[in-house]
Amino acid sequence: MVAFSKPLAAAAIFAGLASAQSFQRLGTCPDLGCIIPPDQADFLAGQRFDIRLEVHAPVNGTEATGNPNPDEKFEFYIERVGGRRGVQSASKWFKVPEPKLEKWSFGWYEDFFARDAKTPSMVNVASKAYRKVYLDEAGEYKATLKHNGKTTTATWTVRDLAEVRRTKNVLFFIGDGMTTNMITAARLIGHKSVNGKYQTRLAMDKFPVLGHAMTHSVDSFITDSANSATALYTGHKSTVNALGVYVDSSPDNFDDPKVESIAEIFHRVYRGHIGIVSTAGVWDATPAALTAHTKDRNEYPYCVDSLLRGTNNTAWIDWNGPDVLFGGGAEHFYSPAIGGKTFKNRDYYEEFAKAGYNVYWNKTSLATAPNNERALGIFTVSHMSKWLDRNVYKKNLKEQANHPSGNKGDAEDEPGLKEMTLKAIDILHTRSKANKRRSSQGWFLMSEAASIDKMMHALDYDRALGELLELDDTIRASVEHLKALGELSNTLIVVTADHGHGFDVMGSVDTKYLEAQKEDRKKRNAVGVYQYSGLSQYINTGDLTYSDGAHFPTNWTPRYSLFAGVATSPDRRENYKLHEDGPRVGATTIPGRASNDYYVNPKDAPTGFTVNGTLPTEEPQGVHSLTDVPVFAMGPCQELFGGVQNNIDIFFNIANCLGLSRTAHGKGPDPVGN
Ligand SMILES: *[C@@H]1O[C@H](CO)[C@@H](O)[C@H](O)[C@H]1NC(C)=O
Ligand SMILES: *[C@@H]1O[C@H](CO)[C@@H](O)[C@H](O)[C@H]1NC(C)=O
Ligand SMILES: *[C@@H]1O[C@H](CO)[C@@H](O)[C@H](O)[C@H]1NC(C)=O
Ligand SMILES: *[C@@H]1O[C@H](CO)[C@@H](O)[C@H](O)[C@H]1NC(C)=O
Ligand SMILES: [Zn+2]
Repeated sequence: MVAFSKPLAAAAIFAGLASAQSFQRLGTCPDLGCIIPPDQADFLAGQRFDIRLEVHAPVNGTEATGNPNPDEKFEFYIERVGGRRGVQSASKWFKVPEPKLEKWSFGWYEDFFARDAKTPSMVNVASKAYRKVYLDEAGEYKATLKHNGKTTTATWTVRDLAEVRRTKNVLFFIGDGMTTNMITAARLIGHKSVNGKYQTRLAMDKFPVLGHAMTHSVDSFITDSANSATALYTGHKSTVNALGVYVDSSPDNFDDPKVESIAEIFHRVYRGHIGIVSTAGVWDATPAALTAHTKDRNEYPYCVDSLLRGTNNTAWIDWNGPDVLFGGGAEHFYSPAIGGKTFKNRDYYEEFAKAGYNVYWNKTSLATAPNNERALGIFTVSHMSKWLDRNVYKKNLKEQANHPSGNKGDAEDEPGLKEMTLKAIDILHTRSKANKRRSSQGWFLMSEAASIDKMMHALDYDRALGELLELDDTIRASVEHLKALGELSNTLIVVTADHGHGFDVMGSVDTKYLEAQKEDRKKRNAVGVYQYSGLSQYINTGDLTYSDGAHFPTNWTPRYSLFAGVATSPDRRENYKLHEDGPRVGATTIPGRASNDYYVNPKDAPTGFTVNGTLPTEEPQGVHSLTDVPVFAMGPCQELFGGVQNNIDIFFNIANCLGLSRTAHGKGPDPVGN
């Protein structure tokens, strides 16, 4: 069922209609005529995109007009405001044949009552899609859809950006789900403070420019990693679960209107070198959004194929695969003969090898990879293990049956985010230097600390903060490595997050006192707030840093632990102790009750007290929250990232710095500016 938003204009006309909120007819559609990309969309000059037009005829429900037949003779016009071309039909404007008419129907629920009663409101649709068009003059455009004697308009803006390239390389770190509150907590446990003064600081703390970004999506104020990655990579806000597309109402997951990503543009304009690194499965939203175009992020086999071949749908951008792809997610690579779930039942280790990639399954072999050849490193089934388990609780790496070969053995030799990122830099640096075409030199690397988010969902704050400190250590080591390579001043480094969770620390907990109490209400008195919070106990006396300059707690299980939590959760139990046996599972279903009804997990924190959640009872984990996220920048164009910005501005600023804007009168690819 497609979600849908009821337009303000329509609300005025059809007074008394339920106002669309939790469910929407189509999030980007202002009335019964839909122009996608929608009103207020911004574009990079030359950026490829698809246009989807839909004319809706509601059959029943509160919007029904009595005419169930959508106008099939709708017309669509484009005009550049103040431009010389005047108003032209889209096919004339873009010099493409008039697309063929498409028709379908869909249903949507108007509210939770309709959902419970299973009474969808039905809509008949007439539609057309213009594929792979672009606008190459900066300015404001008016798109007009005429249907049923009515007019729907959208204002589009092509941002006025210089074509000059100011950076050779871009290193783009995404701490998935990372907020300022988490950074503050990670600093507290990973760095030592004396009488209120930190003796060392996070690598992020040393960035010269700090801004913050709004993360809301096009049709909901809470976002997920798919549509926020779409915003960060394409400059277009989308809908929850959508990768590189706006969502249309058709049933097909692959015909939604696409928008070109930073990786695709960098490849098209410069044949630039691209690296993708994640501690998640590489088909997960944040890595896959660089190449995938689908409204459903769960199309994992397709996402893997897109990383290698680009989109499989209609003539879109030619794509040659990244130079480097490192992460987890083996189950969508190895052959279905041994249980893999792959695109068209192929073996994707073989597909990548045929395309010239060396394939690596462990940290030891990754270290030996030649820097002048393309590399695929897949180190686990599903998401990679967490820093705490790889470094402190190594027994948790056993009996995971997650070896990337698919042989059901354990992946016990996984690299961390740091090893993957440094190796990726070496390969990108070497291959880009060897490129004879000067404008093709330089690289774009996205490196994602995915499990800050995954462990926050699990309410496993220790593991989440371990992942955050690993990201910070990776940033520190990358800066040092780029300096050693002589590339630091040629590299824009941006560190940001795609969205947050409502996490914070409110004090400390005397875990010994808590466990000595018998009653739940008494256990809560183990919490020290304000002056009773004391000081962080996570670094043993005398310890300051790890020998190689990394900063992590040297004591992960102090008697006085963090009194940490999130704004909302499922039912759970808290004893504020680290989960030494592996990532936490706070809530479970109860045998004999519904399979989507979550209660306290009896095995989790048995010595703790019960906290009843406030989330819908079908949510097994914590959820994302509204908060703005931090943006740290260092290097060429760093000044663009200060202050309050929208997440799409991060795309435009990176594209601007790489000189990716291409106007009608531009002179084409520039040599690297420095
Ligand atoms: C609309 O019609 C469909 C059948 O075509 C029905 O299943 C649905 O319940 C109706 N919805 C409403 C809101 O009446
Ligand atoms: C792309 O892949 C999806 C998933 O297998 C499939 O449904 C779709 O038809 C494919 N598109 C093309 C044009 O092959
Ligand atoms: C790492 O991978 C290589 C190549 O597949 C293999 O020969 C080696 O035994 C592996 N090492 C470990 C520690 O798993
Ligand atoms: C939590 O909810 C259950 C019912 O689901 C109730 O029996 C229990 O008393 C509640 N616990 C607390 C601490 O409120
Ligand atoms: Zn998440």
